[in-house]
Amino acid sequence: MENDSLAEAVWGETIVQRFSVPYEFPVSFTESLFGIENKTFLEILCRLESDKRHKVLFFVDDGLVEARAGLVDEIGIYCSHHKNSIELVAQPFLVPGGEKIKAELQHVEQMQKILYDYHIDRHSFVVAIGGGAVLDAVGLVAATAHRGVRHIRIPTTVLSQNDSGVGVKNGANLYGTKNYVGTFAPPFAVINDFEFIAGLGERDKIAGMAEAVKVALIRDGDFFEWLEQNADNLATFHKASMARMIQRCAELHMKQIGQGGDPFETGSARPLDYGHWSAHKLESLTRYHLRHGEAVAIGIALDARYSVLSGMLSPGEEDRICFLLEHLGFKLWHSALEMRTISGEPELSSGLRDFREHLGGELTITLLSKIGVGTEVHEMNDDLVMQSIAWLKARQVS
Ligand SMILES: NC(=O)c1ccc[n+]([C@@H]2O[C@H](COP(=O)([O-])OP(=O)(O)OC[C@H]3O[C@@H](n4cnc5c(N)ncnc54)[C@H](O)[C@@H]3O)[C@@H](O)[C@H]2O)c1
Ligand SMILES: [Zn+2]
Repeated sequence: MENDSLAEAVWGETIVQRFSVPYEFPVSFTESLFGIENKTFLEILCRLESDKRHKVLFFVDDGLVEARAGLVDEIGIYCSHHKNSIELVAQPFLVPGGEKIKAELQHVEQMQKILYDYHIDRHSFVVAIGGGAVLDAVGLVAATAHRGVRHIRIPTTVLSQNDSGVGVKNGANLYGTKNYVGTFAPPFAVINDFEFIAGLGERDKIAGMAEAVKVALIRDGDFFEWLEQNADNLATFHKASMARMIQRCAELHMKQIGQGGDPFETGSARPLDYGHWSAHKLESLTRYHLRHGEAVAIGIALDARYSVLSGMLSPGEEDRICFLLEHLGFKLWHSALEMRTISGEPELSSGLRDFREHLGGELTITLLSKIGVGTEVHEMNDDLVMQSIAWLKARQVS
């Protein structure tokens, strides 16, 4: 029979391969993660195999350790207390916090070598504790060593707890291009410990809140109202309000990734990137002196005004949005908004082109048709962008 079917086979035929892979990972919210009594980390480690000792290797953000000197010891004590389930293969490795760790592939390669030296296999765990940059770089290491080892993320900044840490992307910067190398790789688990936030400077605490305003604007009008009502508490970093804000923001990001229909971003739309086309440009124009969140706040304000000017959003709503952002501590003006190229073109216009190139294909920008409702458009009018910038400038002066 086999011979018959071979004889019938037609060279040039196309066979379609099709399969889907379900993903599931827990995102836990806790406090005192490495307190002996806290079982969160242990339970997550044992969630698929409860009756074995798990090999674990930690990379910890050095900026975090500066703010919380005892952390490495706490991890050591926790692991030795639970040594029946945890095999700590080495003392936690400190790695450079912030964008340094993502620069070219130097640190990524060093970390790969550490995984190799300690015989980390596909059932071992690589844990990253730190800001979004450390999570991105360690995530890339974990996703590529042995084509993927188990990875647990423990975000420690407002931005990484409410946004990047709960996502599915990793990356490093190469050829001077941000996130040029990276993969989509859902983690094994994410654990948010609110206590880590306490060590952050004011500027970083404020900056992380821009993503909450962003996601509220495009997805959840009630959350936007909650942010308005709690702005006093958030501006003074009131613990319960900050924790609630982080949790709701993380939920909304997770919902978009899990239920938005395109978790690995194969299409052109980036609904979560509301306010980001100009923000990315402002970050690079200011050579990253503006924090991501600070640039996003300006981008949100700019696109809110643009939404009004283009007739999509009711007049007055952009003031409401700017008022909330300012109440939270953001400045909505930076002189880089007015920068021009040598040929006289506004730099921000080239930001739109960069954004299109990053997405590939059609330009897709999310604007607002209502507070809580994002709407995609496929072109932006340069004049209206300029008018929006002028409006932001005039607001700052008045
Ligand atoms: N993968 C994604 O989906 C995604 C999404 C958005 C942003 N990102 C990336 O995230 C990065 C920005 O992350 P970020 O805003 O968390 O900042 P960050 O990682 O750059 O950290 C900022 C600074 O805070 C320090 N730090 C971290 N935790 C601390 C703590 N608890 N106390 C004191 N200091 C602490 C770090 O050492 C660093 O110096 C960027 O590289 C960006 O590209 C990734
Ligand atoms: Zn962002």
